[in-house]
Amino acid sequence: MDAFSINMAYVVSAVLFIVGLKRLGSPATARQGNMLSSIAMLVAIVAALVDNAIMSYQMIGIGVIIGALIGAFAAKRVEMTGMPELVALFNGFGGLASLFVGWAAIEPSSEVFTAFTIFLSILIGGVTFTGSIVAWAKLSERINGRPMMFAGQRVVNALIVVSVFACGYMFSIDPSDHTWLYAAIALSFVFGIMAVIPIGGADMPVVISLLNSYSGLAACAAGFAVSNNILIVAGSLVGASGIILTQIMCKAMNRSLSHVLFSGFSAVSNDVVEVEGEIKPISSDDAFYVLEAASSVAIIPGYGMAVAQAQHVVKELQELLENNGCEVNFGIHPVAGRMPGHMNVLLAEADVSYDQLLEMDEINPRMENVDVAIVIGANDVVNPAAREVKSSPIYGMPVINVDKARTVFVLKRSMASGFAGIENPLFYKDNTRMLFGDAKETISALIRQFE
Ligand code: TAP
Repeated sequence: MDAFSINMAYVVSAVLFIVGLKRLGSPATARQGNMLSSIAMLVAIVAALVDNAIMSYQMIGIGVIIGALIGAFAAKRVEMTGMPELVALFNGFGGLASLFVGWAAIEPSSEVFTAFTIFLSILIGGVTFTGSIVAWAKLSERINGRPMMFAGQRVVNALIVVSVFACGYMFSIDPSDHTWLYAAIALSFVFGIMAVIPIGGADMPVVISLLNSYSGLAACAAGFAVSNNILIVAGSLVGASGIILTQIMCKAMNRSLSHVLFSGFSAVSNDVVEVEGEIKPISSDDAFYVLEAASSVAIIPGYGMAVAQAQHVVKELQELLENNGCEVNFGIHPVAGRMPGHMNVLLAEADVSYDQLLEMDEINPRMENVDVAIVIGANDVVNPAAREVKSSPIYGMPVINVDKARTVFVLKRSMASGFAGIENPLFYKDNTRMLFGDAKETISALIRQFE
């Protein structure tokens, strides 16, 4: 196929990517958006495969088989609750792939610009890879999720950045000398680790979206390195949408990006958070009577709903409450769960109607008129310390104000803290009742009462 036809196919693919992304903006059109983006990817892959520049179909075939086997095995084995970690890993391997693409594109005669784009794809790819591995380890609690900080950290980081760019410069002016390249790869790996370890606790959503963005930028740089237009376009789309998501996450936590990246989450000690009041447990029998009399209920899901896989029983409870003449809405916090849109995905799986999913800004003004707020496995995103306790690490982060409802039921298994590892004064408030147990079992018990 000639270059013109290939490029036309890439233009079609780019347009489909953009329209697909636009459609992903609303839950109602998201499926269509996914479909259009998949078609765009198919067009891009077919065009790349028939491109004359392809050197070896045999190698591609082997790569596809190995990749498909690993991907299928990983996706089959992973529990639904492990999805955020899997996504973090996939991100990381996207970065590693860009690193390899850049590496493979090196020719001793490469021009300075090409050599520099190769260096960039290696640098961003390497940072994305090790950064994502650290994020994966933090999310899966293989390492402590808290920020790791040490004296002189910023100086060390600055030195790494200066050194890696110095290596990049030396490599770009003489691509035949691979010593600088190997040094750049090693430093990019170290920098990925150093960039993510100081971030933790409730700031993790920002890291996830930022690494997502980096994987796109790495692909974009790899696109320049191998002169592939669709890789440049698709990479920049992922890079830009990741940055927009990062912005949304920062806004959701009322933190600036520089603060998240350089200050560490628990700069303020948790020890000074004093909690007053006492825990008041309630049985599902008693909770049923309160719910039966309620005329408006707000359901606030969190990570625990994903752990308990309670979304289907939640939908059943919602229907029973509505049949009983109660108005039911869901309050979705932007960082609830462990990945962007986590709660929306789970509730969509259970066929909860989109217009009942209210964002934090929509549900909060209604909270005072809500009879019962049912908190299902959410903790950090409903923590009133964010409003009330100046010394709390999450002070200033917007939360769903469930404590303003007439009664709050908190469904969780114990008094354990959430991801940010901090106390939650909500559990001790006068209007809060704790419904201890696995969320799915507790809701099933409530459903049995209704039936
Ligand atoms: P968390 O604050 O993590 O709280 C989840 C709660 O669910 C825990 O307190 C846990 O208490 C409970 N739980 C776990 N399994 C349960 C089960 N089977 N049944 C009932 N309850 C169960 O969750 P959240 O409120 O959704 O907040 C999200 C947190 O994760 C934020 O700090 C956020 O910054 C962070 N984070 C978010 C993301 C994204 S992108 N959304 C990414 C990384 C980190 P028990 O153990 O006592 O049951």
